[in-house]
Amino acid sequence: MIQKQKGCNDIYGREAKIWKYVDTVIDALMEKYNYSYIRTPIIEATELFHRGVGETTDIVTKESYDFQDKGGRDITLRPEGTAGVVRSYIENKMYGDPNQPVKVYYNGTMYRYERPQSGRDRELTQFGMEVLGSDDPLSDAEVISLAVNVYKMLGLKEIKVNINSLGDNESRTKYREALVEYFKPHIKDFCEDCQERYEKNPLRILDCKVDAENDVLKNAPKTIDYLNNESRDRFEKVQEYLEIMQIDYEINPNIVRGLDYYNHTVFEIEAKVEGFGSNNVLGGGGRYNGLVSQLGGPETPCVGFACGLGRLVMALELEKVKMPIIDDIDLFLMYVNDDEKKYAVYLAQELRLAGFIVDTEYTGRGLKGQFKQADRFNAKFTCVLNSEDLDNNEVKIKNNKTKEEEIISLDVLIYYLDEQLNTMDNEEDACGCGHCHDEDHECTGECGGDCHCHHE
Ligand code: HAM
Repeated sequence: MIQKQKGCNDIYGREAKIWKYVDTVIDALMEKYNYSYIRTPIIEATELFHRGVGETTDIVTKESYDFQDKGGRDITLRPEGTAGVVRSYIENKMYGDPNQPVKVYYNGTMYRYERPQSGRDRELTQFGMEVLGSDDPLSDAEVISLAVNVYKMLGLKEIKVNINSLGDNESRTKYREALVEYFKPHIKDFCEDCQERYEKNPLRILDCKVDAENDVLKNAPKTIDYLNNESRDRFEKVQEYLEIMQIDYEINPNIVRGLDYYNHTVFEIEAKVEGFGSNNVLGGGGRYNGLVSQLGGPETPCVGFACGLGRLVMALELEKVKMPIIDDIDLFLMYVNDDEKKYAVYLAQELRLAGFIVDTEYTGRGLKGQFKQADRFNAKFTCVLNSEDLDNNEVKIKNNKTKEEEIISLDVLIYYLDEQLNTMDNEEDACGCGHCHDEDHECTGECGGDCHCHHE
């Protein structure tokens, strides 16, 4: 049997419905913040990530899916979305658009050749957002708040926002010097990669996975102590805006991020729910003011964020968040003989086009098997088509919950179903918000006490 590749996932059934639901919430929220959707290619020139993400990052040195295409070009499967968006911003001269900043979001597959484990895949899906062309600390705060709001809108409660600042170039240079000085007597005890990082980019020693538990590493100098006044003021402004937006956060001086393009604000959002395991960073991002110019565009201040959807779905499941996933159908059409089958085909077509969720029989089951199938689909109504009823222009519709049956004229079937399903929905969810009722139709209060059922 041919099996899927290590670190890749087949997503189907109920889980696939959750993924689709997450996508719809993301799309709706991004629209509210006036971000436009962008799709960039999965394959890009290898050089883009070497120059963009950084020569000494794990993503480029160890985790990159590189290959040569048939024309001999060096190609990489994108490990993240920011570099591609920046390439597109430059190539399509979006910087010339008077409508700055350019605010875009994406939702797509990325590839990292990592050691697969829970929350760490080789094929992963990231939803991300980038603001290109604004140096205002408000943009940093807004990106953080937007990221938090995605999680909140989906119903996650147990999250924690960690922020830090790497400062501007001057602060970063001072910090680099301090790191070199600090690691000098110890570096020979670190892994080989770290010894190379020490020479080329000492900041990357801080996200070494091999030496992560080394006390020397844990007690290393913190970026925040090397910020110049301008960088410090800027970081304070970000915090001020976060407070205005009532976003809870903590300053965590250990956040340095694993990609080279950051300066000033960096942040990560952690899942705090029990059982998540060690890969509990739901998403992260920060400011990257130098990347556009580094990749050949004009000086353009930018900030962004990306979130792994696999980890997000895992958090939703672990927090047992109720989601409005459709796991029932409106009507299951049953038949025995060929004429009835043809009528089922016709009726299914009519009703689906009228907006109902309808299914029927495709494998030759008898009536008993078809009833079982209707139950497996959680059909709200069933209908056994029979030639006699059809001759009278009627059908017998059964409410699958109450087991009550009614004979309905085919002329009014659409109106009948519409009315019945509306009544059913209203009984289940008095406020109509779709979120705040449990399986026994008791209000869970997730609407904040604002629904009709609280006022009755
Ligand atoms: P990142 O921290 O490398 O940042 O990835 C963002 C998120 O993608 C992580 O927090 C995690 O949820 C998810 N992720 C990363 N690698 C894996 C993996 N192997 N398996 C499962 N999930 C994973 C970036 O990619 C930056 N481009 C974010 C950004 C956007 N910065 C500015 N703009």
